[in-house]
Amino acid sequence: MAPADTGGMGHGAPVETTGALLRAGAERLRESGSETARLDAELLLGHAVGVGRTVILAHPEAPIGADAARRYRADIERRASGEPVAYIRGVKEFYGLAFQVDPRALIPRPETERLVELAEGEVMRRLGLDLGDSGSLRIADVGTGSGAIAVALAVSLRRLRALEAVDLVVTDISADALDVAKDNAVGHAVADRMSFAQADLLPSAAGRFDLVLANLPYVRHDAMAGLPRATTFEPTLALDGGVDGLELIGRLVDRLPDVLVEDGVALLEIGADQGQAIEGLIFEALPGWSCAIEQDLAGLPRVARIGRA
Ligand SMILES: C[S@@+](CC[C@H](N)C(=O)[O-])C[C@H]1O[C@@H](n2cnc3c(N)ncnc32)[C@H](O)[C@@H]1O
Repeated sequence: MAPADTGGMGHGAPVETTGALLRAGAERLRESGSETARLDAELLLGHAVGVGRTVILAHPEAPIGADAARRYRADIERRASGEPVAYIRGVKEFYGLAFQVDPRALIPRPETERLVELAEGEVMRRLGLDLGDSGSLRIADVGTGSGAIAVALAVSLRRLRALEAVDLVVTDISADALDVAKDNAVGHAVADRMSFAQADLLPSAAGRFDLVLANLPYVRHDAMAGLPRATTFEPTLALDGGVDGLELIGRLVDRLPDVLVEDGVALLEIGADQGQAIEGLIFEALPGWSCAIEQDLAGLPRVARIGRA
């Protein structure tokens, strides 16, 4: 990237402007194959300067200091090597909240917001019913990763003044991911309603739940190599769903009769091509149970709602 013309004033180092750095950065990313080159450059320049993207866009003529320009160029090179913008910035927006992210946990995806919406509706519906003696709803988020689902749900319930009525059990097989989830729970001030457990799916003595939520890995093993380059920076453990993609989900399904209360429901995120497969799996593994497929905004199968019929 060439520095902007200083107009021959001759005062120290040449000054670079926002607009020039953006053009050069976007061009570098376009060459490297990024399909979102301009947006990536805007986010990375905002990150280097310490302001939001809209401020960057509003002031193309603004001068950028040498240190910020150096950080920006280094970040552009990381992005050009394929690293996701979210890991470079250390933050990803999910359900209107900022989540800390790094390579210890999957970057939360927008499609998972559907599961949170459905969970929120299910919690509020149940809170409108008689809760009996227990007085609170028990909810599990299995394979929590960054904590996106549990934390987003908890923050929403707090806004609805319903957080005190739930207990969330948050699990992951990865201790690293759980650390990220804890940081996010503390950062959003909802950790006091959560307990964290490192476990294969759920701890054996976890008890029963009103709601089991999970976005477990569901990519077929033989499709892993064809995933976008950015996903190679994410934990394989968070993506690889085994031979048919449903290995982890299938193991959780087998445990549902023991972990769901009588009218409990599991909401499980699935791949857009796995609607029929999950229905078949429930038919085989849990005869007499129901499995309804909820769609996302694009009309694609996204969440399986499973319960005793
Ligand atoms: C697709 S990521 C989802 C992360 C997060 N729930 C989200 O929606 O962004 C799947 C998560 O499941 C975890 N995981 C994989 N196998 C597991 C297992 N056997 N038991 C518990 N968690 C598991 C991974 O470590 C990863 O954090």
